[in-house]
Amino acid sequence: MAEPQIQKGLAGVTVDSTAISKVMPETNSLTYRGYAVQDLCAHASFEEVAYLLWNGELPTAAGLDGLRAEEVGRRGISGDHIEVIRRFPADAHPMDTLRTAVSYLGTTEVAWGGEPEEADRNRSLDLFAKIPTMIATDYRFRGGKEPIAPRDDLPMVENFFNMCFGEVPPREVIRAFDTSMILYAEHSFNASTFTVRTIASSRSDIYSAITGGIGSLKGPLHGGANEAVMHMFLEIGDPDIAEQWMRDAIAQKKLVMGFGHRVYKSGDSRVPTMRSCLEDLAAWKGDDSWVRMSDGLQKVMIGEKGIHPNLDFPAGPAYYMMGFDIEMFTPLFVMSRITGWTAHYLEQNADNRLIRPLSAYHGTDQREVLPIDRR
Ligand code: COA
Repeated sequence: MAEPQIQKGLAGVTVDSTAISKVMPETNSLTYRGYAVQDLCAHASFEEVAYLLWNGELPTAAGLDGLRAEEVGRRGISGDHIEVIRRFPADAHPMDTLRTAVSYLGTTEVAWGGEPEEADRNRSLDLFAKIPTMIATDYRFRGGKEPIAPRDDLPMVENFFNMCFGEVPPREVIRAFDTSMILYAEHSFNASTFTVRTIASSRSDIYSAITGGIGSLKGPLHGGANEAVMHMFLEIGDPDIAEQWMRDAIAQKKLVMGFGHRVYKSGDSRVPTMRSCLEDLAAWKGDDSWVRMSDGLQKVMIGEKGIHPNLDFPAGPAYYMMGFDIEMFTPLFVMSRITGWTAHYLEQNADNRLIRPLSAYHGTDQREVLPIDRR
């Protein structure tokens, strides 16, 4: 029999089709349901993009009002849920607490894959509305503070900041955050989305699938890179040494966080938009050190290795300037990607086949179990 062809990391393998988003590395572009992500950032809000990902079309004014009313109405989490979050170890990583907080929601009802789509649409809305509350509640407890209840007079992003910090920041910050939510929302068959679809494919429930997605996103080769980028920026410390730092890193063959991408090889479509938010935040703060550090690092990396920054590269310092703890950066990614994940869960369920690839075996040849002395 011919040796099987192994595509390590499934690189270059097309495993299914999707109508949700299209990544085009040849033109460095990305569309959600046919709309360029840059256009969505310029003309739509995160809630509108969530509607688009779930329904295939941007909402009418009435549709948007309906979604907003649903989101506002579902923000609250139960007293028991708050107590579960309160009991997490104080030094637990927020991605671990969020993974468990989402999983907790799955214990409050019995759910299965393949139920009528309406049930999972309902759960998708619930996750969309409640995940920000879970993140903020955990953030407050970690800081030794009581949670701040959601306010139904505030839009989604403003309410999230208020639940975290007790105040709503200026327009520049809200806009940059909303833009990051749109940019992080969806990206075809990345590792966490594929995890979600794989779990869905066994007809497991949406909570299990999303919990798995969070676990996959946590890794520094995927969503965890936005945290790793900021740790790297702080380690470098001084923008004036960024270029030399990168030369040294390249000489030492270091994996530099925030650079490279499995699909984009000549630039990530989302970077220019996020970079412009980073510049706006720097102007607002009157501190361009992270912008200058970014410039120094990418100049050398692109010049010497031809490896371009990915979305996590500008997003990490942007979230830092907004005032978030570094460990919260990947949970913020979850707050956004929940829209893409749930859209993929629905799509997988609507036309499902169990995902079950093959493996080539390279272990010991078949042998007999010896009955007495096995040594
Ligand atoms: N720093 C240094 N070198 C890098 C690099 C990085 N961030 N990303 C890729 N490379 C190098 C690889 O080492 C490899 O070099 P080689 O040919 O000498 O072995 C070459 O570029 C090709 O990379 P490849 O391994 O094919 O990339 P991949 O598709 O398997 O991996 C990532 C993609 C994203 C996992 C990888 O770029 C990475 O780990 N980046 C850092 C983490 C990160 O920012 N993740 C967020 C992704 S959105």
